[in-house]
Amino acid sequence: MSNILFVLFLFLGNSTSNLKYRELPRFWTNTGFCPIGNVSQVLLSQDEEINIRLIGSLPNNGIKRVRIHWLLDLVEFSHYREHEIPVFDFEKLDKLMDSLDDSGLRVGFELMGNPSGIFKNNSMWKMWDELVFQIGKRYIDRYGPFKIRDWRFESWNEPDLTTYNKLNFTLPDYMKYLDSLKFGLSAASRNPYSSTHVSLSGPAGLFKNIKHHLLCWGILEECNKNVTKCPFDILTFHRKGESGGASQIYFGGKQLLKEIFGKFPNLRALKISNNEADPVSGWSTPRDFQGDVRYAVKLVNTVLLHWKAKLMDDEFKNLESISHDNAFLSYHPFEFNQRTLFARFQMNKSQPIYSEFIVKPVYVALGLLGNLGSYAGDLEEQKILDNKIKILKTVGALNTKLPNFLAWLIVATKNTEQKYSFNVLVENPSNATFALLIETVEPETTDPAWIWNRYDRPSYPERKFLELMRMYEGPKIAQHTLINENLMKISCELRSPAIALIRLCSDRIEPPPKVFDLRFTFVHNMEILLTWKEGFLRERCVKTYEIFQKDSNENWTMISRNLEIPFLYFFYYPVKGDVRGEYKVRGVDMFGRSGEFSDVIKVK
Ligand SMILES: *[C@@H]1O[C@H](CO)[C@@H](O)[C@H](O)[C@H]1NC(C)=O
Ligand SMILES: *[C@@H]1O[C@H](CO)[C@@H](O)[C@H](O)[C@H]1NC(C)=O
Ligand SMILES: *[C@@H]1O[C@H](CO)[C@@H](O)[C@H](O)[C@H]1NC(C)=O
Ligand SMILES: *[C@@H]1O[C@H](CO)[C@@H](O)[C@H](O)[C@H]1NC(C)=O
Ligand SMILES: *[C@@H]1O[C@H](CO)[C@@H](O)[C@H](O)[C@H]1NC(C)=O
Ligand SMILES: *[C@@H]1O[C@H](CO)[C@@H](O)[C@H](O)[C@H]1NC(C)=O
Ligand SMILES: *[C@@H]1O[C@H](CO)[C@@H](O)[C@H](O)[C@H]1NC(C)=O
Repeated sequence: MSNILFVLFLFLGNSTSNLKYRELPRFWTNTGFCPIGNVSQVLLSQDEEINIRLIGSLPNNGIKRVRIHWLLDLVEFSHYREHEIPVFDFEKLDKLMDSLDDSGLRVGFELMGNPSGIFKNNSMWKMWDELVFQIGKRYIDRYGPFKIRDWRFESWNEPDLTTYNKLNFTLPDYMKYLDSLKFGLSAASRNPYSSTHVSLSGPAGLFKNIKHHLLCWGILEECNKNVTKCPFDILTFHRKGESGGASQIYFGGKQLLKEIFGKFPNLRALKISNNEADPVSGWSTPRDFQGDVRYAVKLVNTVLLHWKAKLMDDEFKNLESISHDNAFLSYHPFEFNQRTLFARFQMNKSQPIYSEFIVKPVYVALGLLGNLGSYAGDLEEQKILDNKIKILKTVGALNTKLPNFLAWLIVATKNTEQKYSFNVLVENPSNATFALLIETVEPETTDPAWIWNRYDRPSYPERKFLELMRMYEGPKIAQHTLINENLMKISCELRSPAIALIRLCSDRIEPPPKVFDLRFTFVHNMEILLTWKEGFLRERCVKTYEIFQKDSNENWTMISRNLEIPFLYFFYYPVKGDVRGEYKVRGVDMFGRSGEFSDVIKVK
């Protein structure tokens, strides 16, 4: 292993930096999945509930939206009332939507499926009008227009594939179906007091050969004739890598957009989204890289390449978002290696059966991205021997004399292991106090799959082993220090492939806010998952959380002990004693200042 040095220079004085900062929209905070098997059984299972809770537990909406196939299969047709108006039973759909909403998540609502098999053929437009109207209206009423504006209703996924096109749409049918979606959603959003624009995305197309993909190409041709009549606000497409590369995702997307805009120049006016931007297709195919840091690095690299593209490429100017299709539930014996955010262990030998979840590095990486500032510079790249080090510098605010908050993301993309040392030189000519924190995601030390493999991949990890794997979840705190001299050198080591986030905070930033909405979910009767919420922090200096339980002596004990709790969840499995009792949580920042305690909740 060679040891290579690079230096990052952080100057905190009056900004003479020529770096141009631009607003950094959080275009990557989307995940998605397809329920596999019995749709309602899977979507309403306890495992899905825990999956959703965890997905919603990254600070600053690290993941904000979940895009889900086949949602209409949760709806049941009940009967017709007068004027042949269909009446649907939305109980199951409500349950899932409530679960997502409780977790602070928005929905990528794909309008696909067949409630109780009501669609007998491909031309029941009135039924589509009604169904979509009722859904739009229902959830605007249930959650309010503010949240629904942030949902993404979308047309049928990859409509040209026979596995998806269950209603046998031809192009004219498909266009009428889209009209119905548009009609239903806009009718739902009209009300006497205000009107909400509910957006429609589509065609969620693969856009392969035009001969075989008539529907997605066909609708674009139609849209090009008059964009104001196009049903879509956001043009969605799917471009994945071929052999697992982030740059393949980017180049594939760029090539497709070139072709689309070449044929249909008027579509340049639309926002665009690659909402299945994954390294390689086939989520369930086990691949070692998907279990460890390599997938985390690929995802972050994909984000960085699209940020660069958004600034530099004409095709990506209107990039609204990218989404990762990685919210699936993994299954045995591929607990870690499928394209998921968590490893799931189904504890089949227990009574009753339950599942344990271990957080993978890719989730941790998304958590680190959540701490980026609101403005970012261009993507910087340094070639160090045969490795590319990418650096994204972000700040919390523009045009301040003294920055209060900096967050720098460093990514070493090369897959072969290599050790780097780097120095952060901080020059602080002011007498303001700063704290610096470097968190990393690296091979082995923040890689639960590594420890699992070393211990012969137990199918049913025992409590002690679960705890051990959780010790490896990351991020690792590589450095944490106060900047108390005018010029300080902070050294750090990084093992490639790796992600590091450097956060520098001034003590003028408020201590952590009170966290709220503390909740528990039973994993089984001896273990709970605690989750909580924190408002969005533009300059986020929170480092960890402290979790307290009140015992039978009425004493509050800190059950998080000395563990680092970087995100908004905690699995609690007391060695002895009981999960029953009262709980409260507070944040602690990089200066060791703690926020107010959350309200107390009681587990009975
Ligand atoms: C799916 O599961 C539900 C609930 O267990 C059951 O009522 C339904 O019949 C199942 N559907 C199919 C298609 O198997
Ligand atoms: C489609 O099915 C509906 C309901 O069964 C029926 O009323 C309608 O006539 C059918 N349309 C066509 C074109 O087959
Ligand atoms: C679609 O076509 C398949 C194969 O021809 C047929 O089995 C199925 O019933 C059709 N579905 C609808 C909704 O028309
Ligand atoms: C496009 O459609 C809009 C809305 O229907 C219409 O007002 C406009 O005149 C059309 N533009 C063209 C160029 O046809
Ligand atoms: C546990 O049960 C599920 C089905 O419920 C099965 O798919 C899985 O393989 C089982 N796990 C093990 C370790 O056998
Ligand atoms: C240092 O702090 C004092 C007050 O504590 C302030 O008046 C002074 O302007 C500060 N100096 C600099 C260089 O910021
Ligand atoms: C609980 O608190 C009381 C009073 O603060 C203390 O005397 C006692 O030792 C504590 N009990 C335990 C088990 O820590």
